[in-house]
Order: sequence, then structure tokens, then C-alpha cells
Amino acid sequence: MENNENAKKTLLSGIQPSGDLHLGNFLGAVKNWAEIADEFDCYYFMADLHTLTVRQDPKELRRRSVAQLAQYIACGLDPEKNTLFLQSHVHEHAELGWILNCYTMFGELSRMTQFKDKSAKNADNINGGLFTYPALMAADILLYQADFVPVGQDQKQHCELTRDIAIRFNNLYGETFKVPEPYIPKVGARIMSLGAPTSKMSKSDPQGCVFLLDKPEEIARKFKRAVTDSDTEHCVYYDAENKPGVANLMSIYSSVTGKTFDEIEKEFDGKGYGVFKPAVGDAVVEALRPIREEAERIMADKAYLQQVYTDGAQKASYIARKTLRKVYKKVGLVEKPF
Ligand code: TRP
Repeated sequence: MENNENAKKTLLSGIQPSGDLHLGNFLGAVKNWAEIADEFDCYYFMADLHTLTVRQDPKELRRRSVAQLAQYIACGLDPEKNTLFLQSHVHEHAELGWILNCYTMFGELSRMTQFKDKSAKNADNINGGLFTYPALMAADILLYQADFVPVGQDQKQHCELTRDIAIRFNNLYGETFKVPEPYIPKVGARIMSLGAPTSKMSKSDPQGCVFLLDKPEEIARKFKRAVTDSDTEHCVYYDAENKPGVANLMSIYSSVTGKTFDEIEKEFDGKGYGVFKPAVGDAVVEALRPIREEAERIMADKAYLQQVYTDGAQKASYIARKTLRKVYKKVGLVEKPF
């Protein structure tokens, strides 16, 4: 049974097409996803419906949804092994989202920290979608009967709520949904901002963020300016608490070269930050070069991308449809005769 295709567990994650991918996304998540493709039945989708909870430029959203898919493929997510699609192409997400809204409590949604954060940031647009976002996310996950959901710390609360919704529904109507677990990768670095190394690398801080599509000169410049510390000896050793900047650069260097912290400390012993920072920059340039070139090649191939997301949506729809049909029946909707 172990090697049987059907015995593979299902893993699913959504990605909001709200910006270009950066080094933190790559080293912290996607690189790992590419490596588990054979172990799980994997679904990854561009969560374009979720992105609408914050105002978007329609043209940009359309461009980014496809460009991001290209970047994921360039990072090693093989469309032959993973089901890659756009959320809005599988209409069951919105439909199950509505149903699950009716099984998600106002109080639960009010406690979501992401809702509180995003409402504070978008005070002029605290819309209903922003509030009910977790019910749609629960639908995304439960439609595929996912066993595992790889998410960052910021999405743990939404995953917990998804479990609660699934359990609530199963208790009311009998076993309907698989109750999913968060997936914590065995490896995976948490990459911090180059400018503020105690905060996570984020696209909202472009100077501290290395985008996968940045040109080599740009990457080198960002690393030369990386914040370190006031250690006059410029010692390169790992101390995440007292030397967060150096620790972050060491993590990045280790992730892209495979070298251990010990080896890195020896390599830069007595050399100082002036040698260390550009060396990390060069290593990142070399690691990202093939990814950027591949992403540019794929982004230009519109027909190929369309084929990938068409195949992905067809495969996803097949599974999604089965779950939705079961749910409609359980809650008392009349079966559609056509
Ligand atoms: N909420 C996630 C984020 O902002 C994106 C997302 C939407 C997602 N649906 C999902 C993640 C389902 C995992 C599973 O990052």
C-alpha cells in the first residue's frame, strides 16, 4: 500500500497573487514544496478571490496572477507533478465558501488577528469579504479533503478555524470533510529583512527584500547595504539574538550554498563584514540566476502558462465538484437535474 498512488496524502496551499516572489518565499517555502512533490498529492493555487478583499488594479491583478504562477514553476514546482491553478477558475471555491459562511460564527471571525491587522491598514475599506475571508479559506482547503496545509505562522489561526468548521459540519451532518493539519516543513529558513533583520522579509519593504526577478546588480547592492551590527571586530558567528543581521545573512548563505554555520564562520574568520556581505550577495545572485532566467522565459510563453492553469483547473474541479455535491446534498439543497 505504501507505494500505491492512492495512498499519498493530499497537501494544499494558496498563495495570494499580491506581489512578486522574494527570497523569503523561496527559501522559506517554495523550495521545500518543490522537494515534496513525490511524497504528497499537491495542490497550489493563486488565491485571486482572496486578493480582492483589498483593492486591486484589475490589469495588475490579472498580470500578477499569471506571472506568479510562472515564478512558482521556475522555482521548481513542476506542473506535471503538482496541480497548479487559479482559484477563480474553480467556481466551487466561491460556492462552498458561501455555505461555510453559514457555519462560521461572527465571534470566531471577529477574533482573527489578520482581520484586525488588515482593517487597521485599510480603514477606508473594511469590507465583508475581509471579514469572512477565513470561511473562503476553509472552503479552499476542505474542498480537496486536504490532509496537510503548509502555511506560515500568520495563517495558523485560519487553519485552526478551518479545523473547527470541519469538525462542526461533520458533527451536524456526519463525516463530510477531512480535518486538516498544518504542515511544518522539516527544513526551511525564516528569512528576515536585510534592512530590519528582526522583521520577516516582506515585499512591503522593498529595500530589505530581494525579489526573485531582481537583476544581479540590484541584488548585490541590497546585500552590500544589509544591516549588520556595531561589533567593531566584525566577527561572523551565529547569534540570532544579539547579532540578528549577521545570523540572517548566515542563514541565507547556508541555504543557498549548503554550507554549515561552522564552515561559514571559518570561511569568514578575520575577514569582516566588508567581505562577508558581498560574498552572500554573490552566492544569492548565482542561486537566483537560473530561476530568474527560467521565470522570464516562462512568463513570455503565454500559451504554455494557459495550458498549465487549464489542466490544473480541470483536475482540481473534478475533486472539488465531488465534495461540493456531497455538501449540497447534506445541507438540504435539491439536486440539480441538468
Ligand atoms: N490566506 C493565505 C495567505 O494570505 C492564502 C490562502 C488562501 C491559503 N486560501 C488558502 C493558504 C488555503 C492555505 C490554504 O497567505
